[in-house]
Formats: sequence, C-alpha cells, structure tokens
Amino acid sequence: MNIILIGPPGAGKGTQAKRMIDRLQVPQISTGDMFRAAVKEGSPMGKKAKEYMDKGALIPDDVVIGVVNERLAKADCKKGYILDGFPRTLDQAKALDGILKSMGTKLDHVVVIEVPDDYLVSRLTGRRTCRGCNYMHHIEYDPPKKSGVCDKCGGELYQRDDDQEDTIRQRLNTYHGQTSPLIEYYSGQDIVRMIDGTGSMVQVQDAITAAIGA
Ligand code: AP5
Ligand code: MG
Repeated sequence: MNIILIGPPGAGKGTQAKRMIDRLQVPQISTGDMFRAAVKEGSPMGKKAKEYMDKGALIPDDVVIGVVNERLAKADCKKGYILDGFPRTLDQAKALDGILKSMGTKLDHVVVIEVPDDYLVSRLTGRRTCRGCNYMHHIEYDPPKKSGVCDKCGGELYQRDDDQEDTIRQRLNTYHGQTSPLIEYYSGQDIVRMIDGTGSMVQVQDAITAAIGA
C-alpha cells in the first residue's frame, strides 16, 4: 500500500505514520527526519538543508526529489510505504507521479490530516522528539514517564530547532502557500481521504484506519 500523508506542521503526520507502520508493515519515509539526519551528520547537504529548515522554508525541489527517488528504490519499499512530508510542492507531486510510473505502481491513498492553525502552535512548542528513535512525545498530550527520556527507547528527548513560535508561523505560511494546493491536485483521482485531526491521537488513528480500510 502506497500512502502519502499531507497536513500542516504539527497535524500529527509523524505520530500517525508511526502507528500505521506497525499495522501495515511498510516503512515510514519522513523527508524531515532524513534531512535532520543529514544535519546531524554535518554533510554538505545537511548544512544547506538547515538554512531552509531554520527559516521554515522548503528545501529546493531538486534536492528533495533526488533523496526520495533514491529512498523509494530500496528493497523495503517493494511492499509499499508511507510518505510523511513528501510531496510538498506541485513539482514534487509531478516528480512522484513520474517515479511511480517508472516503477509501475500508483498511490493508494492521499491522507490529509486537517487541523486549524490555532491548535498547532501548542502542539509544536510542547513537542519533545527522541534523538534515538525520532518518537514524538508531547509535554501535555503524551508526556514521557520520566522527564527528558523517551518511553520507547530510553533516548534523550530534545526540542527541534524549528519548533520556536516564529519559525512555526513561517512553516504554517509555507504549508498554506505551497503544500495545501496538492489536495486539489490529487482530487481528480478517487484517493483523497480527508481526516479531522483535532481529536485525540487514538481518534485520529481510528479515522485513518476506517478511511483506508486497513
Ligand atoms: P517535517 O519534519 O516534515 O516537519 P512538518 O511538516 O513541519 O511537520 P512536523 O513534523 O512538525 O509535524 P507532524 O505533522 O509530523 O506532527 P507530529 O506527529 O510530530 O519537515 C521539517 C522541515 O524539513 C520543513 O520545514 C522543510 O524545511 C524540510 N522539508 C521536509 N520535507 C520537505 C519536502 N518534501 N520539501 C521541502 N522541504 C522539506 O505531532 C506534533 C506534536 O503534537 C507531537 O508532540 C505529538 O505528540 C502531538 N500530537 C500529535 N497528534 C496529536 C493529537 N491528535 N492530539 C494532541 N497532540 C497530538
Ligand atoms: Mg513530522
């Protein structure tokens, strides 16, 4: 099953992807996680990517498309995947169409997690991400048992550099300007599943499960 997750920053794309991969037995491909790994490594691509991420802007399409193209060619994607945070522009969506065509596959579901901006700032300022396994806790909505320590793997929790209020506002603008038009782009195909992302994590998970039938 090939799925893409679309939603504003903090909508719960990563949270839901992590719940879906166990059930569907396919990998989560988060371009954000991939670029954060490149930043951590200090590679030239990571250094360049950080400039865009810190501004709440998108990394240039050619760089992102190259990274995703390579990732989708790996063996673990044969049974399907959940793309978390890609595509984010019309050019990325068109490039993905080309990749799918060349692989002889197609998208099964475009899951759009809708959450109004008002909810998102508190979700993101309260998020604490694990350095080890990338799990996302929240200080109020999903607090770790021990402060600063990931429940899943015992790794150290940190606050993402782009989870500062100014940058969050920029990321929201970027989403509304460049990414939300993708919903219209995919609406011609019968694959768009609109999900109310304002409920609890379990409610959102149940809504996605019902919408994709798995
Ligand atoms: P990326 O890492 O993808 O960030 P994002 O899209 O801004 O989304 P987030 O990861 O912040 O939010 P999420 O929807 O995953 O929410 P989460 O589940 O964590 O991208 C970062 C940057 O990389 C971009 O700004 C860009 O620069 C670059 N980039 C990445 N992909 C790119 C691309 N394709 N093209 C160009 N540039 C790209 O949840 C948030 C918090 O809320 C958590 O603490 C969680 O516990 C909590 N929460 C989740 N669900 C609920 C709920 N239902 N109720 C209460 N709390 C909840
Ligand atoms: Mg995420």
